[in-house]
Amino acid sequence: MAPFNTILLLGATSGLGESAAKRLLGQGKKVIVTGRRQARLDALKAEDLETYAMDVSDIAAIPKHLDTLFSTYPDIDTVWINSGIATRYSVKDINSCTDADLTLEVTTNLTAAAIIARHTIPHFLARGEDVESHFLITTSGLAFVPIPFFPVYNACKAGLHYFLVSLRQQLKDSPVNIIEIVPPFVATEYVVKNRDEAPKNLQAMSLKDYEDEVFAQLDNIPAKELKEVAAGPSVLRVKTWRDGLGAMIAKPFAD
Ligand SMILES: NC(=O)c1ccc[n+]([C@@H]2O[C@H](COP(=O)([O-])OP(=O)(O)OC[C@H]3O[C@@H](n4cnc5c(N)ncnc54)[C@H](OP(=O)(O)O)[C@@H]3O)[C@@H](O)[C@H]2O)c1
Repeated sequence: MAPFNTILLLGATSGLGESAAKRLLGQGKKVIVTGRRQARLDALKAEDLETYAMDVSDIAAIPKHLDTLFSTYPDIDTVWINSGIATRYSVKDINSCTDADLTLEVTTNLTAAAIIARHTIPHFLARGEDVESHFLITTSGLAFVPIPFFPVYNACKAGLHYFLVSLRQQLKDSPVNIIEIVPPFVATEYVVKNRDEAPKNLQAMSLKDYEDEVFAQLDNIPAKELKEVAAGPSVLRVKTWRDGLGAMIAKPFAD
């Protein structure tokens, strides 16, 4: 069983987040799911999940949302940022996206995570020296090996990976565990519906196989030991990084 008890799962109205929320609920955990789509939140509420409407791209509102959530649910011991968007565009064609699209993409994927961490980690530390808390972000296998048609998405996910590496270093001797979830291409509802957007030779992992592989790690490995939790084709990417450049983290200024 996962070591989390009360989980704030940001961006869980569909896809990987919804699936993780239901898996955790099935383990008897309290799960608060967030997102922008009220109809999806209402449907999830009917399935015994706690829900809260929140747009993470509204950076200025994040501290107030977190204050409300932490006072409504004082037992939150896990914050998992799963919200993410991807803009497909070509830098050769100025009309394939707008400046606003790219700004929103960075704000949603990267800036929001930094602000959420800033307002969450001190709250977790204040829970006590011996009280474990968990901070997770869903990145992507593309953080390690990018694909050409999501340039800013790749960059955001790589940025999140290094953001988490840094937080883990800062929190080394603390009871806060920093965990990165690294999905490969997974056949979520959206991906299946928009299959034509993806290259034909790119195989999506089934959602069930993906969740089984992720939860086999979350359920069985002590949270303190978890760093990157990968599944399917992401495993080799993470391992190659961990065993290579990742090994230099202990002595970043050695060379
Ligand atoms: N599926 C894959 O193949 C794959 C692979 C690697 C990584 N990932 C990552 O996994 C995560 C989930 O992706 P998914 O495939 O499950 O896609 P999804 O079904 O579109 O889920 C994205 C979630 O993020 C939420 N979200 C997006 N923008 C938000 C905002 N501004 N404020 C609050 N919530 C927001 C959405 O909720 P609302 O729309 O209700 O706001 C939704 O719950 C993402 O971070 C994605 O980058 C997915």
